[in-house]
Amino acid sequence: MDHWYHGLQTRRTRFNHPIEQNPGQRSKPIESLLLEDLSLLIDLHKDGERQGPGGDDETRLAIALSGLGARSQLQVADIGCGTGASTLVLAKALDARITAVDVLPEFLQRLDAAARREKFGARIKTQVASMEALPFAAQSLDAVWSEGAVYNMGFASGIRAWRRFLKPGGILAVSELTWLTQQRPQALEAHWKAQYPEVGTAAEKMALLERSGFSPVGYFVLPPRCWLENYYRPLQARFADFLSRNQNLPAAAAIVAAEEQEVALFERYREYFGYGYYVAKRAGD
Ligand SMILES: C[S@@+](CC[C@H](N)C(=O)[O-])C[C@H]1O[C@@H](n2cnc3c(N)ncnc32)[C@H](O)[C@@H]1O
Repeated sequence: MDHWYHGLQTRRTRFNHPIEQNPGQRSKPIESLLLEDLSLLIDLHKDGERQGPGGDDETRLAIALSGLGARSQLQVADIGCGTGASTLVLAKALDARITAVDVLPEFLQRLDAAARREKFGARIKTQVASMEALPFAAQSLDAVWSEGAVYNMGFASGIRAWRRFLKPGGILAVSELTWLTQQRPQALEAHWKAQYPEVGTAAEKMALLERSGFSPVGYFVLPPRCWLENYYRPLQARFADFLSRNQNLPAAAAIVAAEEQEVALFERYREYFGYGYYVAKRAGD
């Protein structure tokens, strides 16, 4: 899981996750970040192709599982799209109009520029909005896509809230932090239980999908390359410039230190956790 917001766990507030002392508490909204931390995080991440683990091939695999490729004139939303890596793949692969939603306009400006460059300006529309108050009509979408972002409102709340925007039979495709084994080292378990209490196994997530009115149609795990080559290494390559243009501010150094800790956590424990990619169909209508 990208956890650039976890970077703030040693500070007074964090990007989006529950405050340490209250592990069961609901996620904090992005608005609760210290302004200094938020602008630094934007500064660090806006030049990234991705703001979390993922890969173009993996987005294409999810599209293949969804069966959407055979259909035309689709209406799709990409929620928490960041600078839009998945949005661009969706635009290339599908006959679709895509509304790309994020709460940070700085990320959407990058996507607007890329969409213009790649001649998708007419099919990709960006929209600043909260994933908790999406601007779509009920049953208006053929697919809701969201890579590495649903945790911001929590998997259970997110999938239930977004279901109403899907047409009957519409597709939900989300990637989500997932335990890959039944047994985990205690330190790792404690870390994720505090950071994201909804972390669970694929079987638990599938059951939740079924209980929430979806029929799972596919599941796979993002390979380590999606974390290391596609996300962490490019992020680490930006640290030196980030620190220098921010005069090595303590807040900037704290963000870099926390990102490095997150990378180390993944490198050490990657056989136990990862991102599961869940593709499901709206059912039960
Ligand atoms: C881990 S990043 C993933 C970005 C992108 N999907 C990717 O995989 O590169 C999470 C994204 O969710 C966005 N976000 C956080 N809280 C949000 C909210 N309440 N509503 C909409 N977007 C939000 C962040 O700005 C960020 O772009």
